[in-house]
Amino acid sequence: MPGLKPYPPLQLAGRDVYIREGCYNCHSQMIRALASEVLRYGHYSVAGESVYDHPFQWGSKRTGPDLARIGGRYSDDWQRVHLANPRNVVPESIMPGYPWLNTATLSAAEVESHMRGLAMVGLPYTDADYASVAECGQGQDRDGCARRVSARPRQVRPEGEPAMIAGLITALLIVIFCAIVGWAYSSRRKQGIRTDGTRAAR
Ligand code: HEC
Repeated sequence: MPGLKPYPPLQLAGRDVYIREGCYNCHSQMIRALASEVLRYGHYSVAGESVYDHPFQWGSKRTGPDLARIGGRYSDDWQRVHLANPRNVVPESIMPGYPWLNTATLSAAEVESHMRGLAMVGLPYTDADYASVAECGQGQDRDGCARRVSARPRQVRPEGEPAMIAGLITALLIVIFCAIVGWAYSSRRKQGIRTDGTRAAR
């Protein structure tokens, strides 16, 4: 996947929170190639997007919406309010609140050692990336920490796209064809014509 980079420190730390709090018990991060999911969430997930996810968070429990392309869909403030108590923004939500995350702190040393561990299994973190953790730790440039290296793209457009549209059109044509054939047969039957072409006695 061209342009894909490993998670920057803050996003990696957020991923750890996601795993620790068990968000995967209700959320997937794998948009299936189903029309309903593609229309709702965006392009279906492709395997290459998850090469730097150890362990990947595809999941299969879909109590809540898929989160693979949630990034940037809501404002940071919306996310904060929603996480603390989902019912403050989505009254009918059954998602639990996570108010303690508001005051939880992060250890820069832990994040850095996690990055170094991931480098051992092949993630291309550089010395500059490790150095950037300390800056994040001192509370400088927090947004920069999150954005320095861009992670998973919100929209991918691999070659599969035109093929999928062609598939949908073919499916539509088949449905129209079946409807015409069905209509033709039912009107013949109404006129009393058997399938072998002979006319049934009235
Ligand atoms: C008990 C199941 C459950 C758990 C556990 C859970 N969620 Fe949710 N989540 C939901 C449901 C249901 C919704 C849809 C209603 C809503 O927006 O609150 C949702 C919605 C969301 C949304 C908005 C998605 C959208 O497309 O509008 C985000 C973001 C989210 N959850 C993140 C998280 C995170 C992060 C965690 C872990 C800290 C988590 N959820 C844990 C059930 C859950």
